[in-house]
Amino acid sequence: MSSSEHTDVYSNHPSEYYPGIRQRSRPGEAPKEQVYDKTKDAYGNIVTDKPANRAILTSQKKRLEHEQKLKKQQEEKRLGQSSQSKSNSRGNSPISTFKQIILIILFLPLLSSFLTKTYTFGLSPYFLPTLRRFWNETPLNPYRIEMKFFTPQELSLYDGTKENQPVYLAIDGTVFDVSANRRIYGKGGSYNMMAGRDASRAFTTGCFETHLTHDTRGLTDAELASLKHWKSFFADHEKYRKIGYVKNPRLTDRDPIPEPCRVAEPEPQPQSEIRSHPNSHGHGKGHEQHAPGEAAANRGKSKPGPIHVH
Ligand code: HEM
Repeated sequence: MSSSEHTDVYSNHPSEYYPGIRQRSRPGEAPKEQVYDKTKDAYGNIVTDKPANRAILTSQKKRLEHEQKLKKQQEEKRLGQSSQSKSNSRGNSPISTFKQIILIILFLPLLSSFLTKTYTFGLSPYFLPTLRRFWNETPLNPYRIEMKFFTPQELSLYDGTKENQPVYLAIDGTVFDVSANRRIYGKGGSYNMMAGRDASRAFTTGCFETHLTHDTRGLTDAELASLKHWKSFFADHEKYRKIGYVKNPRLTDRDPIPEPCRVAEPEPQPQSEIRSHPNSHGHGKGHEQHAPGEAAANRGKSKPGPIHVH
């Protein structure tokens, strides 16, 4: 019998398979037993897979899946919190490390005041520039300036004569950017002759015309101390920056030591009478520190070069 000839509405055509219902009863007949497949609900109970149950079974299954998902999320959250609190108790969290550093910073001055009656363990406040210098140069500083190496020729390009170029000067082989004070070191400035070169000798002798050289041979201890002073003056200056080094030419015995530019020998001067540098308010350190160079400058009959330029 083909499907078009199937007219018996009380029996299923094989193509109309309906899972669950296997038989239908004819009118007047006693209802035939309807047979359904058995299935398990979401909780494992065996139930009949009749159409009326299916919606309930599906929603039950979905609800259970959702509950399990929530439970899993809560469990993960709980585990995460406990591992965080464990690492907190070990002091590894960045916040707790930060707090500890702050506490140490606050505690150290108190300890220092208790032990040494000063807040800085008896260190001079000048250790701050040293600290700044260290910070400027340490690889720990992400904003550190990469040091450059100059030949004397390269350095001479930064002698303050070009408006669009920075102004550099060197002292004892170390190069500083002094662009912040173009008025003094730039074109026409009173100390322009010190820019674009290493004129260490002039810093100590005050011979701004004939000692514009890195040659420090034959200097007295006092003059060398003056050189040191000027070097830290530039290093500690809040507006100047150390930017590198200059490769000064090596001096040999055949290079003559520069002649002193002043002939008069100074009268021994008591320390208290040594005048401070006229610009010493800007030099950062005490006047006495500038004194050796200044004493040298005052030795001669004439005033040092820059003064004539003013
Ligand atoms: C060894 C002797 C000397 C050396 C090495 C020397 C060096 C210097 C340097 C490097 C500066 C610039 C400081 C800065 O960057 O802020 C300066 C400024 C100055 N110096 Fe001297 N100096 C000497 C002697 C003198 C003397 C004897 C006088 C005056 C009698 C003098 C008057 C001044 C004045 C007025 C300034 C400030 C310039 C300005 O702000 O325009 N200097 N000196």
